[in-house]
Amino acid sequence: MSERTIALVTGANKGIGYEIAAGLGALGWSVGVGARDERRREAAVEALRAAGVDAFGVPLDVTDDASTTAAARLIEDRAGHLDVLVNNAAIAGGAPQEPTRVDPATIRTVVETNVIGVVRVTNAMMPLLRRSASPRIVNMSSSVGSLARQSGAAGGAAPGPPAVAYAPSKTFLNAVTLQYARELSGTNILINACCPGYVATDLNGFQGVRTPRQGAAVAVALATLPDDGPTGQFFEDAGVVPW
Ligand SMILES: NC(=O)c1ccc[n+]([C@@H]2O[C@H](COP(=O)([O-])OP(=O)(O)OC[C@H]3O[C@@H](n4cnc5c(N)ncnc54)[C@H](OP(=O)(O)O)[C@@H]3O)[C@@H](O)[C@H]2O)c1
Repeated sequence: MSERTIALVTGANKGIGYEIAAGLGALGWSVGVGARDERRREAAVEALRAAGVDAFGVPLDVTDDASTTAAARLIEDRAGHLDVLVNNAAIAGGAPQEPTRVDPATIRTVVETNVIGVVRVTNAMMPLLRRSASPRIVNMSSSVGSLARQSGAAGGAAPGPPAVAYAPSKTFLNAVTLQYARELSGTNILINACCPGYVATDLNGFQGVRTPRQGAAVAVALATLPDDGPTGQFFEDAGVVPW
């Protein structure tokens, strides 16, 4: 079994996921680049290696049971355990997402990736995480999933336009994160959700105002929490995000 710290980042071929992989790699960790497309995955692995990261490719479509099982087997064969899982992969789901105009199939597709995909990958990796001395799970959420912010209860304008598939998928993910934290309380596994801020990536047609590296910072911080760190919480750079 490898003693090196091993991380897996889903959707790591581009955007914020790529920068999370780069940030964890800069710590000297071995980083699995989870990505569904072979060409994009290998390009990311090559770029990370060129930057000095001990990166390895992990074929992974988070909507596919067989792909997820194979990814867990790959990490088991390579390292025997997993220290950190960053569930970063997600889709926006396209338009329209005004509640009165949405195609219900859009909601189903977005939830399949953004929520069920996280459960599928987390559970496949759980036996490997349980073998780590300090397992951490980071779920990449969004402040658009905050009901306090969407409703105005937290003060200020609601984040993002009405988006009845994407925004509630992150609310659902936050709730799922809490359920894991409840079940895993009393273990050494810390699980938290985070928001990267509004980041210029493919997800929003590069309309965001932050860089992917800035967006990755909160996930890197949660991936490196000390053993007495928080669990079952929702963070952004500025601190706790209200549910
Ligand atoms: N950008 C923002 O402003 C912002 C704000 C709040 C939260 N977030 C969250 O941050 C995370 C990263 O988003 P991003 O902005 O970096 O978006 P992005 O550039 O579009 O990257 C999304 C990543 O997820 C992957 N992915 C999508 N579906 C997948 C599947 N079924 N299996 C495996 N990988 C899949 C994509 O792979 P392909 O290249 O194969 O499509 C890509 O690598 C997401 O969870 C997003 O919701 C982003």
